[in-house]
Amino acid sequence: MAVPLPGYQCELREGNMTASTLLLPGVSLGEMQPTAGAVWLPPSQWPRDADYLFRPRPVDTTAAPTVVSRYEDVLAVVLDSDGAWRREIPLDVVPREERHCILDASWLMDGETHRALRRSLRGINRGSTVEAREFTRTLMRQLLRLLMDEEPPWNLSRAIYEASLRVIVEHTLQAPPLLEHVARLRELQRLRVPPPRPDGSGSGLDYFGSVRQPEFEDIMECVPASYHKLPDGLARHLVSLHRSGNMTSSQLISQLGMLVLSHESQTATAASLIAMLLEHDLYGYAVKAAGQPELVRRMVAEGGRRGLSFPINLITPRADVTLGGRELPAGEPVLISYAAANMDPERFGLAPSGFDPRPQRPPHLAFGEGVHRCQGEVGAEQFVADVLLATLETLPSQVRLDHGGEVLREVTGMSWDVVCLPVSPA
Ligand code: HEM
Repeated sequence: MAVPLPGYQCELREGNMTASTLLLPGVSLGEMQPTAGAVWLPPSQWPRDADYLFRPRPVDTTAAPTVVSRYEDVLAVVLDSDGAWRREIPLDVVPREERHCILDASWLMDGETHRALRRSLRGINRGSTVEAREFTRTLMRQLLRLLMDEEPPWNLSRAIYEASLRVIVEHTLQAPPLLEHVARLRELQRLRVPPPRPDGSGSGLDYFGSVRQPEFEDIMECVPASYHKLPDGLARHLVSLHRSGNMTSSQLISQLGMLVLSHESQTATAASLIAMLLEHDLYGYAVKAAGQPELVRRMVAEGGRRGLSFPINLITPRADVTLGGRELPAGEPVLISYAAANMDPERFGLAPSGFDPRPQRPPHLAFGEGVHRCQGEVGAEQFVADVLLATLETLPSQVRLDHGGEVLREVTGMSWDVVCLPVSPA
């Protein structure tokens, strides 16, 4: 059946979709407004002013803060067998008035509060169901067709962002009250960070000082305010934890916000994978590999290893600790670089900063490891696979990267985005 899509000026003819899953208020194929710090780069080149964060080397105590970057070192810290580390960011590092609310979410919580929240998130995240996958593929195909009605170059990131935010809101969280705010949330996320300093003089800590956004928090408040109307999903579950006194109001808003913003990481991973396939003349290979699940898995894994979307994290010693031969006082933050660890030649062999999705490689660290390992990993990888497959079947079979083979990259706090992925028919 043909389903009219208001705001899209076209019709959708797809198998399992219903009008109710498509007729969403306030959603459109929006423009992406880059921040002032956005830079055009070949897809596999990372922002120059942060290079030092992505070089695997012995623990660097000369950097401020100390950087842990080799695969084995990062793994030892995140596995934390001695219980030496905590996630909570000290107030003297990022004062409360400067904190984006997501710094109070589970990824930066410790102890029993974290364990309890993690247990309850595990059971109820529906970001990786068959319905979520079908939704992503159908929506992505439709958005791409809309994009292709415009003159090339087509910015594929616009379609990927739209699909990602909607799958998180509608499937992972199941929070319909957020739908009417998605356009504004997308604008707000681009505003939330002061751009990196052009002279590169900033510290890695800048990425965690993302400015507080009362408007973002107000939008999240619409979720608990609609508790009785929420479907039986993750958002309702989190609100009920708060109502039963097992979560503070700030933790609830923060957790909702963090889950909403995690759509950026999966968008950036999907966009940079497609961009790197084009950059390395492997798009034709991808078209042929699309029917073979193992080859698709390898493409997604290599995209995760080399696509910068959540490259670094912050961790703090509970007590004085010796790291790289230096005494670090309790409370002094340390940066761990998953992105550097993913380019460690000890683990990934020769030319580890290259990109090649064809061979079998050892698992990477883009989702972290240990008790804080990403809880959206399965859904995020499926999302990347679904976006890739929908793209391969919808775009012309011969396409090329526009803008001299470059993409527009930007840093919006902990997430590193591809704000423009311009593609034209070859
Ligand atoms: C490709 C996309 C993604 C990447 C690369 C990514 C990466 C990460 C990383 C590096 C961490 C921190 C691990 C640590 O602290 O050591 C994390 C935590 C987390 N992620 Fe993701 N993430 C992605 C998408 C998502 C999505 C879509 C969700 C939505 C459900 C999500 C939910 C979470 C949660 C809840 C945590 C906190 C886990 C905990 O501390 O217990 N992530 N993610």
